[in-house]
Amino acid sequence: MNAIPATHMAPDELIEGGRGCGGCHNMGIKTEEQKADQLAKGYRYQNNSCDECHTRHAFSLKEAQNPKACQQCHMGYDHPQWEMWSSSKHGARYFAKKDGDLPEGAAAPTCQTCHLPNGTHENHTAWGFLGVRLPLPEDPQAAADRVTILKALGVLDPETGEPTAILDAVKAVDMARLDQASWEKERKKMLDTCTQCHSYKYAKEQLDMGDAILSKADRLMAEAIETVAALYKDGIIKKPEGYPHNYPFLLTFMHTNGANWNEKLDDLSYIDQVLVRMYMKHRMRAYQAFFHVNPDYAYWYGWNMMTEDLGEVKHLAKELRANHK
Ligand code: HEC
Ligand code: HEC
Ligand code: HEC
Ligand code: HEC
Ligand code: HEC
Repeated sequence: MNAIPATHMAPDELIEGGRGCGGCHNMGIKTEEQKADQLAKGYRYQNNSCDECHTRHAFSLKEAQNPKACQQCHMGYDHPQWEMWSSSKHGARYFAKKDGDLPEGAAAPTCQTCHLPNGTHENHTAWGFLGVRLPLPEDPQAAADRVTILKALGVLDPETGEPTAILDAVKAVDMARLDQASWEKERKKMLDTCTQCHSYKYAKEQLDMGDAILSKADRLMAEAIETVAALYKDGIIKKPEGYPHNYPFLLTFMHTNGANWNEKLDDLSYIDQVLVRMYMKHRMRAYQAFFHVNPDYAYWYGWNMMTEDLGEVKHLAKELRANHK
């Protein structure tokens, strides 16, 4: 079997030195009471503090309004929003304006225009970080694909289909929208922002297409998960000790977040790593880039790479089966 060391685990220095998860998560606000108090006041920063955008001492409004205030965290592997926005038409106009090549009043939306409109600090989005939500879609195939993904997120038990403790954790941090009304509320807010500059019809079509791409990406993703799940079922790959179920698991990075369902991943197979990459890197790009109006990220870094991952998963599965016999 292709067992390789678990590269997902961050060494202590990265965590304690704040260069790992803690560099972007858990800045400042520490106690449960403080977090609850901020949440009650309508600030979403249960795990992040105020100084992530307005840094200490100055607490400058202008600094917080600059899209660079977001760059440090909203970049890279699983959430390259900085890269996508800055190289989109929206970002290009922002920089052209700064260079004096567009007039002062030229429209150029920043992160803050769309996510913190009118100074609101409730920066939720409809789809959220992992691109899953409830209720399930009406289309039977799309619903089945979403269920497969929820199982691989450990949110639903792969055997019984029942919700697990991980779903409670998702609820506790308000990580995903879990009913239709809260999704629609966020979507409406976003459309209201787009319509400052675009017609309602145009903006709605754009966001609807984003939803459609996500659903198509989920078809590829579910096919890959099912291929790996069959290897588990047939005993061709063994459940890594840290996995919650005898089923593929996508949140391997959660290991370092103090979540003890994922303590040991030394025996993670290569095919599992390809699956995690397909989800955390390429599926994220395919749909997030669509919403951020970035064709290169949506297609070449997103969709195209997902098809490559799916091909690799199928090839590896075939090899693993052949070698097993
Ligand atoms: C470069 C900064 C950065 C690092 C390093 C980082 N994260 Fe994140 N993380 C983010 C950002 C930004 C988001 C929100 C992204 C989005 O919604 O697209 C996020 C989202 C999350 C979420 C979803 C939270 C929610 O409420 O939606 C979890 C869980 C998470 N990260 C865990 C981790 C863990 C565990 C690590 C370390 C292995 C880690 N992150 C490292 C920046 C980072
Ligand atoms: C994600 C980035 C971000 C975080 C985190 C953040 N802010 Fe802000 N804040 C902003 C932006 C952007 C503005 C400017 C809004 C505008 O242009 O009206 C702002 C404005 C403000 C203002 C001025 C509001 C006004 O109406 O003049 C206050 C006060 C404030 N923030 C307090 C806080 C507190 C308290 C926290 C922590 C609970 C916090 N901020 C966390 C981005 C952030
Ligand atoms: C210090 C790191 C950091 C900075 C700086 C930062 N964020 Fe975040 N942001 C996060 C993390 C981590 C999350 C995940 C939720 C949480 O833990 O509160 C997040 C969540 C979000 C979300 C919610 C996504 C969802 O799941 O629905 C939006 C939108 C967002 N940030 C926008 C911004 C904008 C706009 C700025 C700049 C004005 C900014 N952030 C600055 C770390 C950061
Ligand atoms: C023109 C408006 C617009 C701009 C500018 C914009 N975003 Fe977004 N962003 C969106 C839309 C639309 C979504 C998807 C909303 C949904 O789920 O329906 C989104 C989603 C997100 C999310 C949630 C996770 C995900 O799916 O990506 C984060 C975090 C985020 N944006 C951060 C940023 C940051 C940081 C910037 C600036 C570098 C930025 N956005 C610029 C419109 C914008
Ligand atoms: C502050 C004004 C503003 C806001 C808000 C805004 N846009 Fe734009 N958008 C523009 C401008 C200006 C252009 C460039 C138009 C042109 O080509 O003349 C543009 C271009 C676009 C394009 C075409 C991009 C390309 O590569 O040709 C799309 C798609 C788009 N916007 C979608 C959206 C969506 C969806 C939202 C809301 C989530 C949104 N915009 C919010 C100003 C805005």
